[in-house]
Amino acid sequence: TMVDHLRKYESLFTLTPQRMRIIVDSFVEVLEIGLKEFGQTVPMIPTYVFGWPTRMENGDFLALDLGGTNLRVCLVHLQGDGRFEITQTKYRLTEEQKQEDGMKLFDFCAECVANFVELHTGEGRGKIKEDEELALGFTFSYPVNQARIDHGELIRWTKGFGAPNTEGKDVAAMFRASMEKYPVLKNVKLTALINDTTGTLIASHYVNPRTKIAVILGTGCNAAYMETVENITKIAPLGIPGEQQMAINCEWGAFDSFQHYHLPRTPYDILVDEQSNKPGEQAFEKLISGRYLGEIFRLVLCELIDAGDLFLGQNTYKLEIPYSFDTAFLSLMESDPTDELLTVIGIFTHFHQIETTLAERQFFRALARLIGRRAARLSACGIAAIVSKCGYLEEGCSVGADGSLYNKYPGFADRIHEGLVDVFGDKGKRIVTHHAEDGSGVGSAIIAAMTKKRKADGL
Ligand code: BG6
Ligand code: GLC
Repeated sequence: TMVDHLRKYESLFTLTPQRMRIIVDSFVEVLEIGLKEFGQTVPMIPTYVFGWPTRMENGDFLALDLGGTNLRVCLVHLQGDGRFEITQTKYRLTEEQKQEDGMKLFDFCAECVANFVELHTGEGRGKIKEDEELALGFTFSYPVNQARIDHGELIRWTKGFGAPNTEGKDVAAMFRASMEKYPVLKNVKLTALINDTTGTLIASHYVNPRTKIAVILGTGCNAAYMETVENITKIAPLGIPGEQQMAINCEWGAFDSFQHYHLPRTPYDILVDEQSNKPGEQAFEKLISGRYLGEIFRLVLCELIDAGDLFLGQNTYKLEIPYSFDTAFLSLMESDPTDELLTVIGIFTHFHQIETTLAERQFFRALARLIGRRAARLSACGIAAIVSKCGYLEEGCSVGADGSLYNKYPGFADRIHEGLVDVFGDKGKRIVTHHAEDGSGVGSAIIAAMTKKRKADGL
């Protein structure tokens, strides 16, 4: 019966507090190794974003955001008193564009920026002035190796992207070449290449100075925090003063990749991984992020269908299409307020009129809860690892969080907080997540401003 099945999945997907603590301990070690040596699985990327913003940053900046659900272009006005105004346009990338040649992808981004600039050039407030240099912050949310802030070599695509001729290349240079194809962009200068987590860290701290860590829980998952340069021993030869602060983009989605020593993976997780365009990679992310949760759920259903335990005699071909079950459906099922689970009925009707019994619907909702809860508890493990490594537990800290999973999945934040208490006991309550300010827009503008200021100061 569905109840027996559920018992099996409960034991597969549940993370005990003890197991969580073991994961946290190994996570801390991995974070530390990443600071010591280049080329590690969790690369702990130095971002060349030095220290916290002063809130006096000011001026107009362009921001381009590539890597989340939407491609966005923003014009951000920083007032110099901690306040800002933002104008933006969203675009959608098709799955095909994610696999096209890298140059075409960046040409498309440049085209979006060009259209935006054309539309917003003029006189007055919220307008782009003609013939004035305009700094652009490019939020490129994939792992890149940086030697300075306006440069970055793509280590590997994540989140299903696969554009050829891009991995190993300097994406800032590629994007500059694309911008040159549009005369209207002649005054736009790519000033900073940043990750969404770094942008979120800076933007969150700008509005809430208790922020010490930023996490993105969306299509992908990742975190950034501020590190003292002397702890980043792998960059010692650069001779940056040891007491300086620099943001680190952890790229923690890669935790446990390749070897798979630390995380308890179910057969469904292994299938998701094997059938992905990057088997072995982003092991942590594949258990947590919005790109994969619906697919994990779908694979459990497919197993039950194959065993003849579900939807016998019904046409299930639509459910058998990879990635056809969106993570948003899990959110919807979990928040269905009706006893009959009418939302769940609706979802399955959408899959070619599949009919469900109440017992089945209750099972689906319980399964969604198991998958969603595990994702939140694993996210808590990652946060706990940074908190432990940096010694933030005693004083407590704020964690700026953004992304569709964090913002839209019901109860995700509460489950993270419960997880932190499971790891740390009552002290875990001192670590609090809050919805972050738009990192790729505001954050990238602040960083572009900080970068301009450093340059002007001759640093
Ligand atoms: C947005 C942030 O809200 O969330 C972006 O501004 C980030 O910086 C994005 O990349 C991630 O979420 P998702 O769900 O769009 O992948
Ligand atoms: C993926 C990317 C990372 C990004 C995260 C959230 O993990 O590799 O750079 O921060 O998704 O968007």
